[in-house]
Amino acid sequence: MTQGIDKLFNLSGKVAIVTGAAGQLGGEYVRALLGAGASVAAFDLHPGNPKGRLSEIVSDRLLLVQVNIIDRESIGKGLEKVIYTFGDPGILINNAAIDAPPDADEQETGPFESYPEASWSIMMDVNLKGTFLCCQVIGGHMAKSGGGSVINISSIYGILSPDQRIYEYREKLFFKPVTYAVSKGGVINLTRYLATYWAKSGVRVNTLTLGGVFNNQDETFLKNYNSKVPLGRMARQDEYNGAILFLASDASSYMTGSNLIIDGGFSCW
Ligand SMILES: NC(=O)c1ccc[n+]([C@@H]2O[C@H](COP(=O)([O-])OP(=O)(O)OC[C@H]3O[C@@H](n4cnc5c(N)ncnc54)[C@H](O)[C@@H]3O)[C@@H](O)[C@H]2O)c1
Repeated sequence: MTQGIDKLFNLSGKVAIVTGAAGQLGGEYVRALLGAGASVAAFDLHPGNPKGRLSEIVSDRLLLVQVNIIDRESIGKGLEKVIYTFGDPGILINNAAIDAPPDADEQETGPFESYPEASWSIMMDVNLKGTFLCCQVIGGHMAKSGGGSVINISSIYGILSPDQRIYEYREKLFFKPVTYAVSKGGVINLTRYLATYWAKSGVRVNTLTLGGVFNNQDETFLKNYNSKVPLGRMARQDEYNGAILFLASDASSYMTGSNLIIDGGFSCW
């Protein structure tokens, strides 16, 4: 039977977990999910940071949980709190990740040949192993308890090589690090693996691949980046919320193992 459009994206009665929820985009996803009626557990290393993006949200359907996604025990304890407070989760958004900021350690953003092993390890741990562990612990629970939707967040740099010319203007030699691209590429095939593995358990797994988000970057960066985007600009931080609600809800009930790319056209040319 055809579902009413108002019901299609409705998440009332659903329980969602968002990792990295205190960051720029995680906070947006929390707001969007609450707005669609879900109860939301915000997992982050620093969920209660008073200067963070969750501090303004007041809702009895929001639970802040301190979780380190590279620590299986920490994820397990977080999951127990969610089950105790709201019940079994049916939505998992693997959003937490790290990247090298412009002021990162010189070696970390220097030439590939001297890229530090330690930087490789920590970024692979958070961006890829952390996603794997959350899928294992939380997705595994979803597979046993009625299914749901897992959304793994990747980046245009997970499907394309970074165009290092964007960064050439910087005084300090700056390369977008190899590990960000490799870890985000790995997330996309982890999605495919789990989509087939859990298909019969009712857990859908999809990747949402994002283009760059405006966050007061300097003018030259914006000029260089925007010239590569057919729509001519970076995303606003709320422009992925529609895709999150689509992937989280029954609106995407026939979709699994896919990679939804939203990048203003960046990957078209
Ligand atoms: N912002 C962009 O331009 C952009 C573009 C493409 C893809 N993405 C992806 O979107 C996601 C969110 O990006 P963002 O810009 O909001 O990042 P952000 O840096 O603002 O937020 C990341 C959050 O993850 C948390 N975190 C880091 N390590 C953690 C750990 N071990 N355990 C738990 N939490 C941890 C941090 O505390 C932070 O709150 C990332 O996966 C990123 O790769 C972002």
